[in-house]
Amino acid sequence: MAQLWGGRFTKETDQLVYNFNASITFDRKFYRQDIEGSIAHVKMLGKQGILTGQETEDIIRTLKQIREDVESGKLEITSEYEDIHSFVEANLIERLGDTGKKLHTGRSRNDQVALDMRLYTREELLATDTLLKELLTTILNLMEAHTETIMPGFTHLQKAQPITLAHHLGAYFEMFKRDRLRLHDIYERMNYCPLGSGALAGTTYPLDREYTAELLGFYGPTLNSMDGVSDRDYLLEFLSACATIMMHLSRFSEEIIIWNSNEYQFVEIDDAYSTGSSIMPQKKNPDIAELVRGKTGRVYGALMSLLTTMKGLPLAYNKDMQEDKELSFDAMDTVKGCIALFNGMLATMRFQTENMRRSASRGFTNATDAADYLVNHGVPFRDAHGIVGRIVLYCLEKNIAIEDMSLAELQAISPVFEEDIYDAISMETCVNKRLTVGAPGKAAMEQVISLEKKYLETDWH
Ligand code: ARG
Repeated sequence: MAQLWGGRFTKETDQLVYNFNASITFDRKFYRQDIEGSIAHVKMLGKQGILTGQETEDIIRTLKQIREDVESGKLEITSEYEDIHSFVEANLIERLGDTGKKLHTGRSRNDQVALDMRLYTREELLATDTLLKELLTTILNLMEAHTETIMPGFTHLQKAQPITLAHHLGAYFEMFKRDRLRLHDIYERMNYCPLGSGALAGTTYPLDREYTAELLGFYGPTLNSMDGVSDRDYLLEFLSACATIMMHLSRFSEEIIIWNSNEYQFVEIDDAYSTGSSIMPQKKNPDIAELVRGKTGRVYGALMSLLTTMKGLPLAYNKDMQEDKELSFDAMDTVKGCIALFNGMLATMRFQTENMRRSASRGFTNATDAADYLVNHGVPFRDAHGIVGRIVLYCLEKNIAIEDMSLAELQAISPVFEEDIYDAISMETCVNKRLTVGAPGKAAMEQVISLEKKYLETDWH
């Protein structure tokens, strides 16, 4: 047991208590951020004359060595230490003696862990954003290639109106774009430095909090030390953004699973992203999409768990907050992994465009346009709706599409129909006449694609 306290205690900590309390098995994940924060802290202590120039230099050099030794595997982070903060400090003291004992001047583990977690989350947020951008690039490339690929659009999972694959994919583009905007918003709110908050009430040392904040790339210091050590809003916001990203990935996965099914055959997932069955030789399963859909639950779980942990906590730090880590780390890794795999699956998927087109023309997706044709020839919409309803019934009985009916058959139901009806209800016409902003018509789609291209050219980090 290696712990940073003990002066006040007369008995050894019970081993089970020690294990229950320790966090090294998971907070070792942010050893880099812990060392980075300590280096900034020591630089500031040196600048303020709280440590001498020599002490400052020695501590920084040794902290960097510790970081290198951990990275090279020379120094192992073992569970003999209570947490990552104890590990770093104990190793520093072992290497530097009394000078090492000065590292923690004007600092508490409460503001230290608040800083480490914020630094870690900030990096994860940026990495997630980069992955989302890659996914958006894949989607936009597919959109450009498929502005003329006709497929049925659905409501209630029933064929509704024809759209294009570009249009369908464009819906997901908007979702993941919003996810990125959300991450940016969160970044703007979270990028303030809690270091210097002390245990809860600041410190009596003349710390320069602006300086440490600047060294660590923050906009400035947090403005209340009690809030500084006990705020986990930024993490909740990030987990909430992660949950939303997963919800989007899960919806997309669900569609791919449906599209990949034997009945639809709209897509074929690449062999590299499918798996077989141990018993059924014919099987090629969409496991990646299913796993992404499935893992959405655990990310939601992390969000719920932290919200619940935080709900009754009085100010300021409470040990409950140590529970902010394990599930959050898991959620962050899960989201990054899912975006990356999903992107690979999407980029290598084959779209069976013939099947999509056939499916669109087989589902009366042009019924609305047939009614619109009648309206354009003076029939009131409600009557037109009724006429086309009778046409659909007729087609269902004969197992044909509207465009398979002869003009005589159509005219028998309504004399308004002329030869130009066939052009008016062709899949191409149905799609390309829809030209309002955001609609699937090719010209409208191309406008959106060029806007989104510009959007992807700019970056915020
Ligand atoms: N392992 C602790 C955590 O993750 C570090 C902070 C400890 N502070 C304390 N007062 N015990 O929250």
